[in-house]
Amino acid sequence: MTTLLRETLDHSSIYMPTPARIVAVEQFTELEKWFHLELPSGFTIAHQPGQFVEVSVLGIGEAPISICSSPARSNGAFELCVRRVGKLTEALHRLEPGSMIGVRGPFGHGFPIDRFQGKDIVFVAGGLGLAPLRSLITEVLDERGKYGRVALLYGARTPNDFLFPADLKAWAERGDIECHVTVDRPTDGWDGHVGVITTLLPKIDFPARNTIATVVGPPVMYKFVLQDLLAKGIAEGNIWLSFERQMKCGVGKCGHCQMHHIYTCQTGPVLSYAEVKDLEEALS
Ligand SMILES: Cc1cc2nc3c(=O)[nH]c(=O)nc-3n(C[C@H](O)[C@H](O)[C@H](O)COP(=O)(O)OP(=O)(O)OC[C@H]3O[C@@H](n4cnc5c(N)ncnc54)[C@H](O)[C@@H]3O)c2cc1C
Ligand code: FES
Repeated sequence: MTTLLRETLDHSSIYMPTPARIVAVEQFTELEKWFHLELPSGFTIAHQPGQFVEVSVLGIGEAPISICSSPARSNGAFELCVRRVGKLTEALHRLEPGSMIGVRGPFGHGFPIDRFQGKDIVFVAGGLGLAPLRSLITEVLDERGKYGRVALLYGARTPNDFLFPADLKAWAERGDIECHVTVDRPTDGWDGHVGVITTLLPKIDFPARNTIATVVGPPVMYKFVLQDLLAKGIAEGNIWLSFERQMKCGVGKCGHCQMHHIYTCQTGPVLSYAEVKDLEEALS
């Protein structure tokens, strides 16, 4: 098996994509679609949860997208969840199964999952942040015995905006992961929690000393979630956040993703709070 990264690095140019075929597409919400992709025969994606690929559509352009499938289940195939916001993502949303796209990567550093063994883990996902976390959650649940207590806190704007509905249902039914979901605005028939994601944090009573928190969501969420996680006593080095900055090359050449001295495409996107707490650009 050749890893996609080896293939990306072996090309005559680091900017040359490898073709991938869209095998299946599912519309999750009005704006978000899930894509199941297949690499050429003999290739494997070999990523860490939290890493991303640069996805290209011929004649349109390229954008970084997180891999949302777990490494163990990915192999020659992998999954993306894409929000339609601009040129590239609109073009992707128009593609049907059988279409080809380009991929480079996987790039960056994901979650240091080896350091999570034996710990309690709280996954905090806001909106599309569930996509990169789903890769990590699936990996942790597949090796459930290696970890302590596990909880997911997930917030969406409305009940119509929940991503990965089949996974959410399956996780809620497992009994070995606490699942708490909330919405900002309820719709008719919603009898679940209403409120911003921080209103779910009091439901978690894990001993702080042994707890890892992983946080992915819109930048505005980070400041408030961090305040509450730190107030619970979770160590700065045990809080992991993903920084989805403007990226172009994905490989440390263009500087678009720079956050002070950190190129988030290379050192990130996943960084601990201890690494970024003094960087004004990170959490403002
Ligand atoms: C590490 C990383 C991981 C990511 N993972 C995911 C993921 O899993 N799923 C996902 O959907 N996204 C993800 N993103 C975000 C995604 O890369 C961006 O949304 C990307 O810009 C989409 O490209 P685009 O060409 O479709 O949109 P763009 O054309 O780049 O537009 C992006 C934004 O800019 C605005 N915009 C565009 N043109 C204009 C204009 N002329 N004037 C004003 N505003 C404008 C759009 O409204 C939109 O909000 C990730 C980003 C990073 C850095
Ligand atoms: S995206 Fe070009 S340096 Fe990070």
